[in-house]
Amino acid sequence: MPTAGTRAWTWTYEGYDANAERLRETLCALGNGYFVTRGAACEVLSGPAHYPGTYAAGCYNRLTSTVAGRAVENEDMVNLPNWLPLRYRILPSDAGPGPWLHPGHAHLTAHRQTLDLRHGTLSRSSVYEDEDGRRLTVEQRRLVHMSEPHLALQRTSFTAEGWAGEVEVESCLDGAVRNTGVARYRGLADQHLRGWETGAEGADTVWLSCRTVDSDIRIALAERIRATPGRGVTPRPRLTVLRAAHALTLPLAPGATAVVDKTVALYTSRDPAIESPRHAAVDCVVQAAHFRQLLASHRRAWENLWRQAKLEVPGDAGRILRLHLFHVLQTLSPHTAELDVGVPARGLHGEAYRGHVFWDELFVLPFLNLHLPQVSRALLTYRYRRLPAACHAAAQAGRAGAMYPWQSAGDGREETQELHLNPRSGRWLPDFSRLQHHVGSAIAYNVWQYGQASGDTEFLHTRGAEMLLQIARFWASAALWDPVLGRYRIRGVVGPDEYHDGYPGAAEPGVDDNAYTNVTAAWVLVRALELCHTLPEAHRRQLYERIELTPDEPERWEDVSRLLHVPYHQGVISQFAGYQDLAELDWDGYRQRYGDIRRLDRILEAEGDTVNHYQASKQADVLMLGYLFSPAELATVFRRLGCPLDDDIWRDTVDYYLRRTSHGSTLSALVHAWVLARVHRPDAWTYCEEALTGDVADVQGGTTAEGIHLGAMAGTLDLVQRGLTGLETRDRTLWLDPAPLPQLSKFAVRIRFRQHWDIDLRIHAEQVRIAVPESENAAVRVRLRERSFGIAPGTTRRLDLPDP
Ligand code: BGC
Repeated sequence: MPTAGTRAWTWTYEGYDANAERLRETLCALGNGYFVTRGAACEVLSGPAHYPGTYAAGCYNRLTSTVAGRAVENEDMVNLPNWLPLRYRILPSDAGPGPWLHPGHAHLTAHRQTLDLRHGTLSRSSVYEDEDGRRLTVEQRRLVHMSEPHLALQRTSFTAEGWAGEVEVESCLDGAVRNTGVARYRGLADQHLRGWETGAEGADTVWLSCRTVDSDIRIALAERIRATPGRGVTPRPRLTVLRAAHALTLPLAPGATAVVDKTVALYTSRDPAIESPRHAAVDCVVQAAHFRQLLASHRRAWENLWRQAKLEVPGDAGRILRLHLFHVLQTLSPHTAELDVGVPARGLHGEAYRGHVFWDELFVLPFLNLHLPQVSRALLTYRYRRLPAACHAAAQAGRAGAMYPWQSAGDGREETQELHLNPRSGRWLPDFSRLQHHVGSAIAYNVWQYGQASGDTEFLHTRGAEMLLQIARFWASAALWDPVLGRYRIRGVVGPDEYHDGYPGAAEPGVDDNAYTNVTAAWVLVRALELCHTLPEAHRRQLYERIELTPDEPERWEDVSRLLHVPYHQGVISQFAGYQDLAELDWDGYRQRYGDIRRLDRILEAEGDTVNHYQASKQADVLMLGYLFSPAELATVFRRLGCPLDDDIWRDTVDYYLRRTSHGSTLSALVHAWVLARVHRPDAWTYCEEALTGDVADVQGGTTAEGIHLGAMAGTLDLVQRGLTGLETRDRTLWLDPAPLPQLSKFAVRIRFRQHWDIDLRIHAEQVRIAVPESENAAVRVRLRERSFGIAPGTTRRLDLPDP
């Protein structure tokens, strides 16, 4: 956790700690939705403590590696050339130059870095003192521009404390990078770039271009270097095959400060309206304004964003939530709306999960819908463009409709690795997580939620409906009639708890009747039927023709949506058929033996056992239903399925799985916090705290250094926004059913709902206050528990919260 000096809008790390550096690099990353750069030191190129990384959204490349004697392909988000490097040393007048200085050097006497969330800048400050007592203070301000998506800047100031001399500075664009950020992937092919070229344009601008090996994306960066005072300081370009650099010598007078501004542009051949990435990058830095002007426009862009995504929570929780919001907005910003990209599970902050897109968007879009709906729409459009790939995958599997991949990247084919490494045992094991077909329901859910929250019927009735119907079609074809049960069954799947990828000793992978999969599939089928009934005639006709829907299909959907099997045992919903037959794990024994047992799968496999033998889940699975659906909506789905669900069953189900979950995913604590808060359980806060500290305290032991957990970060924001307020957007109405936690009972959010741009929602102990600004042109319809009312523009409504 950051040390002293941390304020509500800043995040400060005092001192240099090589062991914590990679975690700090992730948490201090800067970005703008187009690209993100880790908050690495600029003084060293790389090394055990440092992992500079720059990633452009949607820039992937595929390589083949040999693993356990097999050729395997992996598509990775590519680590692009590093634009940060800038090193410096004191030049003595008589002897040779001093050592290159960096925060790990013995001459360092003080170091601090501060992330300013409000303004989107990273400040680094270092003080060095050499054997001759010469103190050099180096202050740096870095930003990745929020309104000029291709630009990044780094201003570095050098002050000689009481001595005169020179400082030599070397800045470069470093093309000698690989994807080596994740220890587990070492040994796999990692050289994604080739064809480097470098050049200079005049004295102050150099460029570096290259291309990805297989996807053939051309990438170019240009850097402009300017010194102040600039008289007599001329940058000297230095070009090698892999590096485009500048050297300059700064004269320093006692107490005076010399400044070096590094302005960088990054373009790829995926960008619209350019002729070549190299020309675009060079032109961009040549024409770029002065640091001060660019800082001002960057700050304005951030102010605007903070206004659109206002979330005020007091205290420590509020500080962490602001950091989460900052990273969500850096990964998915208004620029994302112009890109063909999905939601990368680990942000654009590191190489874990190879920048792939999972179901995690389920935890992200509901938050974005109410602030930046155009971004949600773009993220759904990423899925729509890959609908043909999903239909192809379904056909290959002998199914109808669309089978979306568990892991998606460039073209929407299944990118889940076939083998994964257990770092504990060193063994490569088959990976069946691709059987998590429930990802399709997450997409359908997001389509529906987006439509409800934004009122964007143009999307919902065309692309949205097409995806939703194709996903429904997939479920209907995956559901097979079991005459003995008198029910439809979906067999051979993996639920959200990916520890259970098969029955002990079974020849085929997968489990049967996963309750989460089946209930969400039933929900998707119902929504598809609803769309069939409500689509405007012209849209319906076009859509039916396009996907060649036959009249008997909706009939079957009707049937399947009523008769999917949901298993139960001991009065609780079973995670899947036969869960109750698995052995009970000796939880206390394992905790005593290993301490942290979040990754129980790895522990057991290393012991020669498998988690498939036990009633032990990685993360919320059945309980996800309480995360996605309000009690009323869940009750409706269960009623339709003819399956029992009342408060007692739900409470017992929550208790049952709570005792059998290891929380091996950051999503788990989040979902548990949400579900427990909704049933007013005092232990909700424990999970809430774990969800809040997931990344800042690196709860999953070293994983944050490899990238943020975007789903959990956005999910904690949504926990306040929708979880604790009970907010739903149905029937053109804002439904509220607040369930604040005692520790989180005072907060405010500003949301955008359909045509309403700024609705202020404030919860304060036992009161809820809803304000609709004068500028709105219609009343907002609200339903709070049993009461319905409209709130006219320019009015505020205060309501006491009845006891739950
Ligand atoms: C979780 C998945 C999640 C993935 C990416 C895994 O550890 O089990 O639910 O989608 O991480 O965040």
